[in-house]
Amino acid sequence: MTMSVLLTGGAGYIGSHAALALLQSGFRVCVIDNLTNGSTEALRRVQEIAGKELHWVEGDVRDGHLLRRLLIQHGIEAVLHFAGLKSVGQSVLDPLTYYDNNIGGTLQLCQAMSEAGVHKLVFSSSATVYGDPATIPVVESCPTSSPENPYGQTKLMAERMLSDLARADARWRIAVLRYFNPAGAHASGLIGEDPREIPNNLLPYVSQVATGRLKAVQIFGNDYPTPDGTGIRDYIHVVDLVEGHVSALKRLKNQSGLDVWNLGAGRGYSVLEVIKAFERVSGKSVDFNYAPRRSGDIAQCWADPSKAWRELGWKAQRGLEEMLGDAWRWQSANPNGYRDDELTI
Ligand code: NAD
Ligand code: UD1
Repeated sequence: MTMSVLLTGGAGYIGSHAALALLQSGFRVCVIDNLTNGSTEALRRVQEIAGKELHWVEGDVRDGHLLRRLLIQHGIEAVLHFAGLKSVGQSVLDPLTYYDNNIGGTLQLCQAMSEAGVHKLVFSSSATVYGDPATIPVVESCPTSSPENPYGQTKLMAERMLSDLARADARWRIAVLRYFNPAGAHASGLIGEDPREIPNNLLPYVSQVATGRLKAVQIFGNDYPTPDGTGIRDYIHVVDLVEGHVSALKRLKNQSGLDVWNLGAGRGYSVLEVIKAFERVSGKSVDFNYAPRRSGDIAQCWADPSKAWRELGWKAQRGLEEMLGDAWRWQSANPNGYRDDELTI
């Protein structure tokens, strides 16, 4: 029988790609999003690409009544919890809003799921919980460390809350997915990352320099102990990333308790390598200049994703150039993101 799933934050970057992958894999999809950083146009396009409909509700995950109603009315069997705020810098300026949304939201969701008798959950965590990892590539057993910023704290605290929950009640089956650096877009160029503000993350920034919307990339530090002095990260294609969610969801049927998987490609690229590859793929030049290191950044980090391969049968299939090519197709076709077509559906 078709399984119904609820996606919190499904109108955002990763959630919209997940909604598409799930529809294409035969799941029934219900989305709740408060649209603080999501778009109804993304959901319209997801349905267009899939040729299938999803159900969507504008609402907040901190609204327990609404969640309970959705879970029960739609016969939801599992939840993928993407909803949250994700700007590191903003979290330092406004920590309470971050704790409220990310911790309060996760708490309300778990309570509503418990009351509705839904115990399967996939949680969007981040490699930020490893802090500056002692060994690279990073394995899941690598100790987590107290992140320096409230955003990172909320991910670690939410992981701990979920782990306590799974230990206290054997009915819970929870997949914690630690994302490395999601990038790229669906190959159609119809959906992609659409930050509301000036982007904080490298790839959206580079794309917007290539379209001429922003002037030049500031490379945060060229004196790191890396081959070219710039920071190294594990960029993972968003379509690979969401396929990892489909695999995790299928595995939850046979899982008990909580388990953790890294979702990364398993190799790192430096900021300079990314900019050069982007120029090759897009045929555009990307101006950059060197700036001081960004506070809280680490020199290098990439995943050992072999646990996900062994246990979920998942690994990243798409390389850097495909990722950048897809990011560019999306950005060049939609220089203003979804704004030009935003409608209520
Ligand atoms: P996003 O901002 O594009 O999507 C998040 C969505 O959640 C948005 O559509 C927003 O409107 C919605 N939302 C926020 N607060 C909500 C609330 N209280 N109730 C209902 N909806 C709410 O971000 P994304 O990049 O798609 O990230 C999804 C998840 O993955 C987040 O939890 C994020 O912290 C995590 N994550 C992202 C990255 C990354 O680089 N993008 C890396 C690691 C982890
Ligand atoms: C950042 C967050 C992390 C979060 C992740 C996804 C910080 C310290 N970490 O990771 O908590 O989970 O995003 O949202 O913010 N860079 C530049 N110029 C730019 C932007 C980035 O040189 O304009 C460099 C960074 O120094 C880094 C690399 O590019 O070396 C990737 O940066 P970014 O995309 O922001 O990701 P992370 O810092 O890895």
